[in-house]
Amino acid sequence: MTPVHICQISDPHIALSGSAADKRYNGAAGLQAAIGHIRALPRRPDAVVITGDLVCEGSTGEYERLAALLAGLDQPVYLGAGNHDDRDNLRRIFAATHPYLQQDGPIRYRQRAGGVEIVMLDTLQPGLHPGRIDEDSLAWLRHCLNDTETAPLLLFLHHPPFVSGLTTMDEMRLENAEALAAVLQNARRRPLALCCGHLHRPAMASLAGIPVCAAPSSAFHLSGWLEQPGKLALSDEAGGFMLHRIGEGGALCSHFLSVTTQTEPDFLQRDGAWQ
Ligand SMILES: [Fe+2]
Ligand SMILES: [Fe+2]
Repeated sequence: MTPVHICQISDPHIALSGSAADKRYNGAAGLQAAIGHIRALPRRPDAVVITGDLVCEGSTGEYERLAALLAGLDQPVYLGAGNHDDRDNLRRIFAATHPYLQQDGPIRYRQRAGGVEIVMLDTLQPGLHPGRIDEDSLAWLRHCLNDTETAPLLLFLHHPPFVSGLTTMDEMRLENAEALAAVLQNARRRPLALCCGHLHRPAMASLAGIPVCAAPSSAFHLSGWLEQPGKLALSDEAGGFMLHRIGEGGALCSHFLSVTTQTEPDFLQRDGAWQ
C-alpha cells in the first residue's frame, strides 16, 4: 500500500479579527503557520483533519475567517466539532464546499484518504464544555466498525477519552469513554488509533487497548504541570500539528510537528559521516 499521510490540526480557535480572543490567542496566526508548514512538506499529505474548537464563539463571522485561512490548503479538509463550535453556523458556512457536512444532527462521517478510512465522531454537547457521544452515534460507530469495510481506519473526535492529570481539563473530558471503549472492545475492525484534541498539548494514552493520541493546538498550549485543581495554566510552548503516516499493512506512526519559524529543515552533509 502506498503510504497515506494525514495531517491533524486541532483547536485552531479562530476569533473575529481584533476581538479580545483574537488578541489573546492569535489563533489565525497559529493556523496560518501550521498551514505554511503543511504546504512546505516534501510529500503532499493526502488529507487534513481538524479535530474541533475550530473557532472561539461559534459565530458565522469566525467560520468565514476560518474558511478564508483554509483556502491555503489544496487537499481535502475534514472538519470536526468541539465544545467551542456551533453545528448550525459551521454547516452554514462550510456545507456547500464540504459535502460530507450536509446531513443534520451530529457532525459525524466516514471518508477515504487513499487506502485509509477516516471516521469522525461528534462529542459536542451544546452549551457545555465536557463531551459526550450520544446513543445514536455509538450505534452508528458500531455499524462502521462491523460492516464489510476492511480498510485500516483512524477514528477522530474532539474530547479525550482518558484522564490526563490536567485536572481542570479532565473535568471536561469525554463523559462516556466507557461506552466508547465497549464499542471498540467488541469491534470486528478496530481503529489503528483514536486521534483527539481539546487538551491543548500533545499526549498519549490508550482505550480498549487502542492507542489514543491527543494533538497539540495550533493556537495555544496548556502547561504540562499536572494535578493542579482549579487552575488552567497557559504555556509558551510552540504549537503544532500531527502527521499520521499509515504504511504497509496499516502500520501507523504518528509524528508531532512543532510549528517554528523554520518551515524547511537544515540538511546535514553526508560526507563520510553525517555532519
Ligand atoms: Fe480547545
Ligand atoms: Fe475543546
